[in-house]
Amino acid sequence: MSLVDLRDVVKRYGPLTVLDGVSLSVEKGEIIAIIGRSGSGKSTLLRCVNGLEPIQGGAVTFAGTVVNDPGTDLRKLRQQVGIVFQSFNLFPHLSVERNITLAPTVVKGMDRRAARELARTVLRKVGLEEKIDAYPDRLSGGQQQRVAIARSLAMSPQLMLFDEITSALDPELVGEVLKVLEEMAADGMTMMLVTHEMGFARKVASRVVFMHQGKVWEQGPAAQTLARPRTPELETFLSAVLH
Ligand SMILES: Nc1ncnc2c1ncn2[C@@H]1O[C@H](COP(=O)(O)OP(=O)(O)OP(=O)(O)O)[C@@H](O)[C@H]1O
Ligand SMILES: [Mg+2]
Repeated sequence: MSLVDLRDVVKRYGPLTVLDGVSLSVEKGEIIAIIGRSGSGKSTLLRCVNGLEPIQGGAVTFAGTVVNDPGTDLRKLRQQVGIVFQSFNLFPHLSVERNITLAPTVVKGMDRRAARELARTVLRKVGLEEKIDAYPDRLSGGQQQRVAIARSLAMSPQLMLFDEITSALDPELVGEVLKVLEEMAADGMTMMLVTHEMGFARKVASRVVFMHQGKVWEQGPAAQTLARPRTPELETFLSAVLH
């Protein structure tokens, strides 16, 4: 059984069809890079996977649970599916530790001491253990984004979704965040990431999915798909982002 399975997913906003029959399966341990033009439906696709968007057709399944079933406990699902966005969304009035331990203590009932240990462990993974008592406004954008990743990791998710998490960063801070993703990939985390970093996609992703007009237009092994696009649409897209 695939970890994630989308079958003929249709998403509309009023008259606008944003996902037009999307089918996509993701196996445990895969790293999927989702690429495509602005408005092609990349963010919407990610948001459907953890039930942030109601859909109008088809089915989304995560680990055997039908995400779009009205009976599904979405809070429970979202403990297993972490999502990190372009904007870091840290709570500015809470320390790094509390940003990370809020969900484990409140949602999972973990005690404060165990939660601080957990915060240390996940901060070590993103190389920021020494920032445990800092406040977000004292961190660089790259550091804030790494804390946001650590916060997701604290819930021990089975799947991580990343939506252009380096797009708001100064160029010199992109590398440190991509390095954290690379280490997570090496650890075996299953990931779906929307990215404009083609070099990163080629190096780290197991598969590239090219979205166009709300459809999975083309997909395949990363290196091959990026080097030899089969559709003129992907070829055009790649020449626009690479030049
Ligand atoms: N809440 C909303 N209400 C109406 N239309 C929306 C909403 N969210 C997204 N859309 C539309 O859906 C389409 C797909 O949006 P989506 O954000 O998934 O694109 P994207 O591929 O992530 O683009 P980008 O690269 O700019 O982030 C766009 O035409 C967008 O305007
Ligand atoms: Mg988007």
